[in-house]
Amino acid sequence: MVADQPLSNTNPLRDTITNAYRMDEAECLEKLIPQATFTPLERDTVITTATELVVETRKFKKKQSKIDALLHQYDLSTEEGISLMCMAEALLRIPDKATMDKFISDKLSNAAWKNHLSRENPLFINAATWSLLLTGSVYAPALNNDENLFASLKRSVSKVGASVIRPIILQMMKAIGAQFVMGQDINAALKRAEEFEAEGYQFSYDMLGEAARTMEDAKAYYDSYVTAIDAIGKAAKASTHTQNPGISIKLSALHPRYEYIKYEQIMAEMPPMLLALAKQAKQYNIGLTVDAEEADRLDLSLDIFEKVFSDPALDGWEGFGLAVQAYQKRASFVIDWLADLSRRHHKRIMVRLVKGAYWDAEIKTTQILGLSDYPVFTRKNSTDVSYLACARKLLSETDCFFPQFGTHNAYSVAAILEIAGNNPNFEFQCLHGMGAPLYHQIVDKAKFGRLCRIYSPVGTHKDLLGYLVRRLLENGANSSFVNKLADDKTPIDKIVYDPTERVAALAVKPHPHIPKPCDIYGKWESSEGMDFSNHHTLAAFKATMDKDVRQKQHWSAGPIINGQPKFDKQAETRYSPNNLSEVIGNASKASAEDVEEAISIATAATRTWGETSAEERATILERAADAFQAAMPELISILNREAGKSIPDSMSEVRETIDYCRYYAYRAREDMKPHELPGPTGESNVLLLKPRGVIACISPWNFPLAIFAGQIIAGLATGNTVLAKPAEQTPFIAFKAVQILHEAGIPGDALQLLIGRGSVVGAKVVNDERVAGVMFTGSTETAKYIE
Ligand code: FAD
Ligand code: 2OP
Repeated sequence: MVADQPLSNTNPLRDTITNAYRMDEAECLEKLIPQATFTPLERDTVITTATELVVETRKFKKKQSKIDALLHQYDLSTEEGISLMCMAEALLRIPDKATMDKFISDKLSNAAWKNHLSRENPLFINAATWSLLLTGSVYAPALNNDENLFASLKRSVSKVGASVIRPIILQMMKAIGAQFVMGQDINAALKRAEEFEAEGYQFSYDMLGEAARTMEDAKAYYDSYVTAIDAIGKAAKASTHTQNPGISIKLSALHPRYEYIKYEQIMAEMPPMLLALAKQAKQYNIGLTVDAEEADRLDLSLDIFEKVFSDPALDGWEGFGLAVQAYQKRASFVIDWLADLSRRHHKRIMVRLVKGAYWDAEIKTTQILGLSDYPVFTRKNSTDVSYLACARKLLSETDCFFPQFGTHNAYSVAAILEIAGNNPNFEFQCLHGMGAPLYHQIVDKAKFGRLCRIYSPVGTHKDLLGYLVRRLLENGANSSFVNKLADDKTPIDKIVYDPTERVAALAVKPHPHIPKPCDIYGKWESSEGMDFSNHHTLAAFKATMDKDVRQKQHWSAGPIINGQPKFDKQAETRYSPNNLSEVIGNASKASAEDVEEAISIATAATRTWGETSAEERATILERAADAFQAAMPELISILNREAGKSIPDSMSEVRETIDYCRYYAYRAREDMKPHELPGPTGESNVLLLKPRGVIACISPWNFPLAIFAGQIIAGLATGNTVLAKPAEQTPFIAFKAVQILHEAGIPGDALQLLIGRGSVVGAKVVNDERVAGVMFTGSTETAKYIE
């Protein structure tokens, strides 16, 4: 359970952050645009500087790394790019060769690799394409001859099997990985860094490893941080943390349950770990920055950060830092809160401003969970605007912050140079393997002479996957600056422009192809999930769960015949599978007479309900959807205590039920309206679907709400009357669902509930044109559904 008073509850600035979590995108941008806007003169200077940076950077193109060329060629808007991406993600973790071969064959057969073979492309791309198709090494000398290459391709392509290609692809994937990793261990990385340090670069080392699955993993990651801090600390020669190398830490590496719903446990266990690492970093006077990860971790990370930052053991050390993601709608409010935190404790915070590396995942997760809105912007330019607004905020409060700007975008860099003016109290940061030609100019004392720190991952392929996927997404996305920069054909004004103007010109509207989660089905509204990473939502949910669990809520269930519940004096006492001694209520069973009575009532009602218009039935089901939505906390509580389902699984079941209501309402309207056009047999005004009569719905225990309700709703939507028998283990959730449907307007004779064990209830088959089979044997096989 969660703590009574999270830190996030005690400060109004934190409430502002929470309120902005999924705020309206346009409203958020309206606030940011004025903070991000330059005067015309300033903007011209920014564009001139950025253009010069791009021109110079492109001059390095001939020296462009082979990987850059490869990633640009297989950009993620092509099927081949996606295939490459899937391979990178999957191949390194497939344990056996046979599965690898199947996987490669599958991916290669799907993609038009041959389209990428052209004489215009740099050799490496042809070679890489080749290596995906054929046996040769990417550096094979025969590849110098294009004619041979094509002839050889034609001859060989059919003969080559996946097992021959596998080692080549693996090697390619490893080569891509090596591009982004500084060294396999910290000592190798520190050694390799020396040549860059000589050019004026600083380093922040990142020990690969994140999202620990077990305490054992977390302990191993923690130990690797301890070892790394010692090694970095010993290599640190300067007297200030800003001139020394530092370390970046992912909190998800330190605990397998780093999630808001585990607040109490996490707040007890994680701050001491982070504090120990921070004290170690302080002792060497090196910087330690907490990376920003998924948006649902933000609130928790801020609480952990505050607890550690305010520990007196860290007094006098300003090397503790936090990454802030500008693509989050909360970013600028997080900076306000950090400024307040800094003032309260009279020491500066290192704030690394990045745009954010989890964009695709944020969009997908929000859609899957059906949350009210996205935590991130939906347009790239909006993120750029937020980045500038946050940068201005950080640079205007260097009494609170030591700002660190992580970006590879020449416009963002030029804009920061303009905002900073003569202020020396900040640094740029880039990722190892990215942005080198840009930052050579920035650190060059003859040009800009600014500080740049390279974020350098350290580790082996085993822990590289998450990081690598983020880099491939970033480099491959056609909206990304580095991707466009790599293509000489993209004119400079398509790369260097003022994002504020673009966003304002679009009237700050969200991206039209990224609908809100409730609109993703288009034709009917999707159900809404509960956001357990939002402490306002979690607190309300907790109140319901507490009421039920702590007050030992008892439920009663019984058959509902013609709208009337029947409770038996000999009702069975029911226990929770979570705790077999916990009584959760009493359930009465239907007798054989109840079944007979219900069948005759249902049979009589087939006329009235069947003749109710599809529109009316659909409207009732939509009302039911709203009622299920409103009852979500209570339904989750029943599912959890009665069926032993986890809270996220219970929420998914409730959502599925709501989606069934709206989906079948839509289908009833679409498929049951009289059609103007002739039907399949030539007659006009046919109904595509007709009611069948009485439908028996028998459902299993493992989806005691969604499958129970899904069958019922389909039957009712089509104008059938329904006799519903839930699994014997789960009468309470079924009782509640039927009550909700009745309250929404389903007549008591159209939907009846028969609780009981199949064999006890007995069997009855009615062979009538309008009456389908009704047999309570506990097997769904005997239930007849709409065809
Ligand atoms: P640009 O091409 O200008 O911007 C690309 C970014 O725009 C994407 O990454 C995304 O954030 C955003 N974007 C793309 N499409 C859309 C869209 N449709 N709508 C809204 N936004 C969009 N990332 C983290 O998440 N946490 C970290 O702790 C972190 N640490 C980093 C440390 C350093 C030193 C650096 C350099 C980067 C770090 N990053 C981190 C990664 C960083 O978020 C990406 O490298 C960065 O977003 C790329 O931005 P850019 O300015 O280089 O490129
Ligand atoms: C990431 O791991 C760099 O922190 C950033 O993607």
